[in-house]
Amino acid sequence: MIYLDNAATSFPKPPETIEYLNNFVTNIGGNPGRSGHTLSLEAARIIFGAREKLTSFIGMQDSERLIFTQNGTESLNIALLGFLKTGDHVVTTSIEHNSVMRPLEFLRRDRGITYTTVACCSEGFVDLDRLKQAVRVNTKAVVINHGSNVTGAVQPLAEIRKIIGETCLIVDACQTMGSIPVDLKTVGGDILCFSCHKSLFAIQGVGALYVREGIDLAPIKFGGTGSRSESIEHPMFLPDKYECGTPNTPGIASLLGGLTFIEKEGLANISEKKQALRARLVDGLGQIPGVRVYGHLSRGPGSYLAIVSFNIDGKLSSDAGYELNRRSLFVRIGLHCSPVAHQTIGTFPTGALRASPGYFTEEADIDIFVEAVRDIARK
Ligand SMILES: Cc1ncc(COP(=O)(O)O)c(C=O)c1O
Repeated sequence: MIYLDNAATSFPKPPETIEYLNNFVTNIGGNPGRSGHTLSLEAARIIFGAREKLTSFIGMQDSERLIFTQNGTESLNIALLGFLKTGDHVVTTSIEHNSVMRPLEFLRRDRGITYTTVACCSEGFVDLDRLKQAVRVNTKAVVINHGSNVTGAVQPLAEIRKIIGETCLIVDACQTMGSIPVDLKTVGGDILCFSCHKSLFAIQGVGALYVREGIDLAPIKFGGTGSRSESIEHPMFLPDKYECGTPNTPGIASLLGGLTFIEKEGLANISEKKQALRARLVDGLGQIPGVRVYGHLSRGPGSYLAIVSFNIDGKLSSDAGYELNRRSLFVRIGLHCSPVAHQTIGTFPTGALRASPGYFTEEADIDIFVEAVRDIARK
């Protein structure tokens, strides 16, 4: 079995993820912040530890501004629904995930916001001149995918920051977190939204967002927080303002394990290994007659994540994916929840195959995969 669907969620998880998860479920199990007993306090300590580690992972200090969510989608919903009001204008791009496009479309219909979708080139990089032209006086935010889940293109956020000035920059870092360094001070984002179950190695069901000081989001969920219980008013202090109900403590414990693993291996090593796998994959696929790789062409290697979409001439991605699955080679097919991205690269509505190696993928896995694609293309 060769798993090349790490852009959907990473698999396998490192031993630390399983160890921390197992320890929580076996030995702790309490509900954090709800009761004063030892197990509840221990659960709260784990969440605090994960919050602190994740905050410093993105180069920030203020850990209460780091909010835990269920996934990247919930983080983006909190950011967009909490920030945008009637009459606001938003700039986004033609490489976004539905987790950005669908909330924006809902806000357009329901709350009267407007948005401009700036075109990206066929590799998925945003056109910076058009981006500049799209920002208006009433533009409240620019929402952008840091790394594309379709072409792997990494947007030049520091340049984008310069172009948009003080406008709030909401970054969808679902694919970049844990794959390349994401230091919020360097990349210049105001709200960073991401999944923790992809390259941060938590189990599924964990995401987060970081909200920089001075940015206020209206909460979109209300309820029990274990704090200020005497009041009918939902607490307005962080992180309780956005975190209510029992959290996914087992998932957050697994995240602490994942972050511990990343620290041990070194993000630079992880990044380097994935880049080498990316290069091998792009090179291998590129040499097969009848295979077309999208992107990974015009810019330096640091401009792409290890996410490679491709098609085989004369075959639907679903048919080719079926063939690969029969050989226990697991990739994603279709539109990858990003129809606009596929319109941008010219593969809408049928989509493409997407191979996304992870840190545990070996070079030999890539070679076996490339040979299988060659065989399928020949037939
Ligand atoms: C770029 C991008 N944004 C958002 C998401 C949504 O993340 P999640 O699946 O954690 O909700 C994904 C997931 O694939 C993604 O790749």
